[in-house]
Order: sequence, then C-alpha cells, then structure tokens
Amino acid sequence: MLQLLLSPLVWSLGASATLHHMFVGTYGGSGVYAVTYDDTTRALTSTKSNTTREDNEWLALSYDGKTLYSSGLAGWSSFPITSPTTIGASTGSSPSPGQCAIWQGIFILASRRAPYSVYGTLSCARSKDVGAPAGQVGRGKGEVVYNETAVMYGMDMDPSNQYLYTSDFKSGKIWTHKVNKDGSLTALASVEGPSPVGAPRTVVVHPSGKSLYVVLEGWNVLALYAINATTHLPEYMDALFNLVPPTETPANYAAHSAVVSTKGSVLWATTSSKVGGKPGFITGFRLQEDGQIIDQIFQVNTPTGGGKSNNLAASPFADNMVALTESERGSVSLWRYDNVNVKQIASVQIHDAGAPNKGCCSEAVWLD
Ligand SMILES: *[C@@H]1O[C@H](CO)[C@@H](O)[C@H](O)[C@H]1NC(C)=O
Ligand SMILES: *[C@@H]1O[C@H](CO)[C@@H](O)[C@H](O)[C@H]1NC(C)=O
Ligand SMILES: *[C@@H]1O[C@H](CO)[C@@H](O)[C@H](O)[C@H]1NC(C)=O
Repeated sequence: MLQLLLSPLVWSLGASATLHHMFVGTYGGSGVYAVTYDDTTRALTSTKSNTTREDNEWLALSYDGKTLYSSGLAGWSSFPITSPTTIGASTGSSPSPGQCAIWQGIFILASRRAPYSVYGTLSCARSKDVGAPAGQVGRGKGEVVYNETAVMYGMDMDPSNQYLYTSDFKSGKIWTHKVNKDGSLTALASVEGPSPVGAPRTVVVHPSGKSLYVVLEGWNVLALYAINATTHLPEYMDALFNLVPPTETPANYAAHSAVVSTKGSVLWATTSSKVGGKPGFITGFRLQEDGQIIDQIFQVNTPTGGGKSNNLAASPFADNMVALTESERGSVSLWRYDNVNVKQIASVQIHDAGAPNKGCCSEAVWLD
C-alpha cells in the first residue's frame, strides 16, 4: 500500500522535464518565434518561423490551439500550428479595408465560444469580424462601426464570451457589444473613461466577470471598473492605480499591458519607458475574488525600457508567472511572484534585427 501511495511521487520526481510553449510576434518583419520553457532547467529557447506577412504584432490562439492569428500593418492572418514550435503557411488573410490611414490591424481577439469568431480592431473607428470557425481569417461577416472619431484598440470578452469590451484610444470611451449566437456584434453602449485624453488601450476582464481593468497609456495608470451584472456595462469605480512610482515623471513612460494571474488573485501591469537607457516598470496588485483591487504588492524595473512592447502574457500552468516581451533589445523573460518577491526566473535574447522595435518581441501567447 505504501509502495502504491509513493509510486506517483517517485514517478513525478523521476519524470523528465515538462516543456511549455509560446509563440512570440515581431514588428516590421516576417518572423514569429516559438519559445520553449523547460521547467526543470528553467531554460528558455527560441526557434524562428517565417511568414509571408510584413508584421505579426498582436497574436491570438484559436480555442482549440490549432490556429495562430496575427495582426499588424497588413491586416490579419491565420496560420496552422503544425507542432508546438512550428507554424505552416498562411491559411488566409484579411487585408484592412484601406481607409485607415494610420494603423490597419491593431489588435486581434479569438472567441472561446462557438462559432469561435475572431475580431480585429482598426484605427478608423471600426472593428472587423475577420474570422471563421475553420480557423481561417478572411471570411468575416463584416465591420462594426463604432463612431467616426474613434480609434479602437484593446479588446477583451467576459468569461462567458457573450460580451465584448473595446477601448477607444482617441476618445477615452469603453464600448460594450453583445456577442450574438452567430458571432455578430450588437452595440449596447459606450461609457466614458476617466478622461477623454487618458488614451485607454489594454482592456482586461477579471475571470469572475465582475471587474474590468483599463490601462490608460496617456496617464500611466490603471482604471478600475465594476461590470454591472444586469446591464453588463462597465461602471467606473473612481479608482486609478499608478503604474510608475510617485518619484518618477509620468510623461517619461507609457502604460502598456495588463494581465490577471491564472487563479485571478494577482493583476500584473507594465509601463514602457520613453527615455533611452531608462527601464520601464512591472507592477502587481492583489485582488479580491470579485476582482476589486486590494493593494499594490510590487513595483520593480523591467530589464529594458521595453520599446514598443513590455507586454505581458499570463502563464496557463503556474499561478503568478508571466512572460514579458520587450522590443528595445529583443527578449522574452519569465517572472514569478512567490507571495513575497517578484523575480525574473528565465530569459532568452532574440536580437534579430539589431535595432529597437524592429523584429522581436511584440506579444506572446502561451500554447501550453
Ligand atoms: C527565414 O528567412 C530567412 C531570411 O530570408 C532565412 O535566412 C531563414 O533560413 C528562414 N528561416 C526559416 C525557418 O524558414
Ligand atoms: C462620435 O463621438 C464624438 C465625440 O464623442 C461625438 O461628438 C459624435 O457626435 C459621435 N458621432 C456619432 C455618429 O455618434
Ligand atoms: C446595474 O444597473 C441597473 C440598471 O441600470 C441598476 O438598477 C443597478 O443599480 C445596477 N447595479 C449596481 C450594482 O450598480
């Protein structure tokens, strides 16, 4: 009996390393990197896949982990995931409609609910339904017009994937759409942000579905909203949280990214630095079960200024572990909060372009 009880433990101690995989996007190049983490040696390694696209800035995974979607200047594309470290030739792409002078495919989001639609934002006040259940972009059902003066940026869905929240970077608003059974969107309303000039970008819904966080790039703060259970609209809680220390000059930074840890207990957020040679920050907040913020638990420098990214991706296999991508030098690092300290535990350099914000590393998505 004792032998039986012990054997799984012995087996797990003797087992070989577990490998975890992510894909990492790039700026202004054709590459997508597969990054592997060996949780025994704590080594991160990378391999490159080429795509025919010019840019693979934001990435998303399909619900079944079989398709990688990317967005960037040229619109949106899909690629089959042929192994945990390789992608195949593009299965489709959806060029932007052409009328967006500034930025075409800003962001991409893949729904986890049938029919598994994919949504992309544009700088010209539209969100484009760019996806199809088969995992190919380019068969979208059309565009959703928000407001002619808007610049739609970040998106997230509630845990049931029935409501879509989108930030308007230009006017400071947060839009709520009902996601219909066929994947189409119906606008419910937009709510004002804390300020029309706060420049909201990343939007994150807490796994409880009760709180929503908005990263205000222009103010270097995070704004807290409660999601009304009846209307599903976010209500601003009059609560802002600093993403740079009070001793720093906010104008030297740009708030970028936020993610919630696997178990929903910690919120991580970053700023990148606009001043050469100065690092950005990574800040952590302790959360209640409903996602309300209890307090700030850490605020430390990131390895570089972060460039255009300093973006976070929460690990699906370990609570309180995140991947941080930065494009100043080009690297991916893993960070862990152990309830006392936050530490970088692994890092891989991917200096592919030799110039800041060209090439690696824009955003990471974890496969497993
Ligand atoms: C990617 O493209 C570069 C430059 O064209 C080439 O040197 C490299 O071998 C390609 N890599 C793969 C994995 O196809
Ligand atoms: C779009 O938003 C702007 C600024 O908030 C507002 O002035 C304008 O009336 C809106 N347009 C429409 C069609 O709602
Ligand atoms: C949610 O919205 C409804 C309808 O506007 C309102 O009656 C209710 O008080 C709101 N709930 C909360 C908790 O604010």
